[in-house]
Amino acid sequence: MDKFIIYGGKPLKGKVAISGAKNAALPMLVASLLTKETITYYGVPNLKDIFTIKTILTKLGVDFSGSDPLIARAQKLRSHCAPYELVRTMRASILVLGPLLARFKKAYVSLPGGCAIGARPVDLHLRGLTQMGAEIRLEKGYIKAETECLKGAEIYLDIPTVTGTENLMMAASLAKGTTVIRNAACEPEVTALARMLKQMGAEIEGEGTDVIYIRGVDALNGTTCTIIPDRIEAGTYMAAAGITGGEIYLQRCPLEFLGAVVDKLREAGLTITSEGDMVKVTAPSVINSTDITTLPYPGFPTDMQAQFMALMCLGNGVSVITERIFENRFMHVLELKRLGADIKIDGASAIVRGVPKLIGAPVMATDLRASASLVLAGLAAEGITEIHRIYHLDRGYVQMEKKLQALGAEIERVAVG
Ligand code: UD1
Repeated sequence: MDKFIIYGGKPLKGKVAISGAKNAALPMLVASLLTKETITYYGVPNLKDIFTIKTILTKLGVDFSGSDPLIARAQKLRSHCAPYELVRTMRASILVLGPLLARFKKAYVSLPGGCAIGARPVDLHLRGLTQMGAEIRLEKGYIKAETECLKGAEIYLDIPTVTGTENLMMAASLAKGTTVIRNAACEPEVTALARMLKQMGAEIEGEGTDVIYIRGVDALNGTTCTIIPDRIEAGTYMAAAGITGGEIYLQRCPLEFLGAVVDKLREAGLTITSEGDMVKVTAPSVINSTDITTLPYPGFPTDMQAQFMALMCLGNGVSVITERIFENRFMHVLELKRLGADIKIDGASAIVRGVPKLIGAPVMATDLRASASLVLAGLAAEGITEIHRIYHLDRGYVQMEKKLQALGAEIERVAVG
């Protein structure tokens, strides 16, 4: 298990290129199950989660070659089982359920189980597929699903679940008749998947809104696609510039997907401007304490909450951070407090009183975005911060320490044990 050692206090300066979005690449790779033809992907980020989904897909029957472009082909099914050992390491593995059912009529997928940021059930995925005619049983920790033929259905999602919308959209693309998903997720990653499916011959309308119409077709064809840039990675580097008093340029920054984040970072005092194909981010001399509430897109993303909280630790007043998507997503609070932050949790809100400085200490990463917030805090802290269990970061940030080193940070990866 590796750890990061950060010698804090250096303002970030320079250029950083944003990688392809993990959360767009995952469903788009899974969509390769829907056709026997070849799919060519550009810009797939080199991350642990991508490795995991490729391992599952290979087991199921997808043959991969190359890296950029990455070529995928699922001529026939080798297995219809996504096993517990893999699914438990990444909940997004549930995305294979819809495509397996739609093309091969059966699936045996482990239930994801709990995770560090809350219960995260998959009931809405299962309910939607049942409405489409799947017979689903839960058996020994597995979802056993079968169908003679999926049929179009009117589906209302109680919560606009992101992977749920993606799962149902993929299944509906090969179902008989029209499916309507109401209260669908509007995240740009959902839209990117819809765009790819349309290139494969799917008939989809309304992606990017809360009602998506999918008219099923008999078969889908191959295509070539490019993964959209990662808005959360971009937002994380913006916050890193802000917390270190730096000035950085982001290449391939998807500003169009970062409305709420940019708005709140500006309220916090950061200057964010477009310069040609770059986005320039300049830290303020004083960080304004700013409130945020996480919401489904286009609201403030829960995946940026922890990083924004790190920034608010050095704010000039009190910031109230309210988490509305997941019930247990404040695991970073105790660790930030170890660095000297003043934070109190009150139900779904964290009350952050800005302190003049953070001081380095050993801390433990608990989940992907919590880890990123600790890196940010460590970059700004006086002295040395050691971050343990950074395997969480490797799930979602491409070469984070290398990108930060290129921006002038003193950060190193050390193998432990
Ligand atoms: C996706 C993202 C994740 C992000 C999250 C919210 C991927 C691979 N992951 O996760 O990074 O943090 O969206 O933006 O894209 N829920 C139910 N029943 C369900 C499904 C979800 O109650 O069947 C609840 C969840 O517990 C949660 C809320 O709905 O409270 C939103 O979760 P969801 O959008 O499904 O998150 P993911 O798709 O797992």
